[in-house]
Amino acid sequence: MPKVSLNQAAATLARRLDRLARVSEERGATTRTFMSPAMRRAAALVGAWMKGAGLSVRVDRLGNVIGRTRAPRRGAKTLLMGSHLDTVRDAGRFDGALGVLLPIAALEVLRGRGLALPFAVEVLGFSEEEGVRFSSAYLGSKGYAGLLGVRDLRLLDRDGISVGEVLAAYAGGRFSPPGPAHGRDELIGYLEAHIEQGPVLGELGLAAGVVSAIAGQTRARVAFGGRAGHAGTTPMAMRRDALAGAAEYIVAAEAFARARPPLVATVGRVVAHPGAANVIAGEAELTLDVRHPLDARRRAACRALRREGRRIARRRRLSFAMDVTQDNGAVPCSRELTALLAGCVRKRQGRCVALASGAGHDGVVISSLAPVAMLFVRCRGGLSHRPDEFVSRRDLEAALRITVDFLVRLGSRFPR
Ligand code: GLV
Ligand code: MN
Ligand code: MN
Repeated sequence: MPKVSLNQAAATLARRLDRLARVSEERGATTRTFMSPAMRRAAALVGAWMKGAGLSVRVDRLGNVIGRTRAPRRGAKTLLMGSHLDTVRDAGRFDGALGVLLPIAALEVLRGRGLALPFAVEVLGFSEEEGVRFSSAYLGSKGYAGLLGVRDLRLLDRDGISVGEVLAAYAGGRFSPPGPAHGRDELIGYLEAHIEQGPVLGELGLAAGVVSAIAGQTRARVAFGGRAGHAGTTPMAMRRDALAGAAEYIVAAEAFARARPPLVATVGRVVAHPGAANVIAGEAELTLDVRHPLDARRRAACRALRREGRRIARRRRLSFAMDVTQDNGAVPCSRELTALLAGCVRKRQGRCVALASGAGHDGVVISSLAPVAMLFVRCRGGLSHRPDEFVSRRDLEAALRITVDFLVRLGSRFPR
């Protein structure tokens, strides 16, 4: 294996991020949702890069791509590294993809230096983290961790197809949820690199930072039911307009969260039925996403938003339903692994800050299997979940240098 300089490896990483962004289910945009043909193409592409880096590759029943280095000896432990390959609609190039492609690049650098690690590394490209298709995130990592439950399998997409049906079709017949991919005692930990998706590192002029904890998150489907009717002939006072009720709810949820920072509440999607200009909406469905660093505050907010929905519905003679599709508590990162990572960040840039993550990450689920550490990488303007998400080449190289250093330092803690 020829020596690969960090600079060359960072250039390859940038090229691969560009290439992967072109794998999409929409022309002219980057969109990859769970189990779409684009996700299969992405898995094949990333799997080929993994193989090129000397990893053995498999794709599991959830569509997760898993690349593994050869264990240096029997019974050697495993370090997990990775993130997700699915995206939001019209996404950027870095959210998720960076955390999958960065460890591949780091392993290529180490291989080029002839440096063997005293543990195995498993690089994970999870098939679902964003929760776009089923309004519930982490289906890929839940499958990997053995946490996929009956409730997950019953979730429906907007066409009424369930997660269970999609996975059975993928398996070519029946699907039963897998057990955990590893026992806890086989694992050293899980390292996830991710763009910050916020402005703090940029403001501080730092390329990278570490994560102290990942905020908890609840997602729900909210539905208002009214009566469809003619837009020209039904007097205003006689209407039961489900969409107007939904609109009131959206504004109420916004005001509620605004008054209680750092609580955030978002309605990201509204679907009105039957959905025509000249028909009063008989039904309106919304997604609700609620986050807070403290679990008790998040749960209290969800209870209050349920009461608010009921109040609005009662006043407008509508029905109201709120079904929780996802509920994850806040996850603290591992003190030990984070201290090691912070040392590598400091070596690179002189100082290191620890940030709490408001965004969800696969580490939330993988924390059930192994201690978790996260590296945050600066992204321009803190912008994410949009096509102009951007990480500079210099920052990619910094993240790569930190990751290589982390692997070497972690390796020095193990007996050869
Ligand atoms: C994932 O990007 C999330 O935090 O919603
Ligand atoms: Mn992400
Ligand atoms: Mn995301």
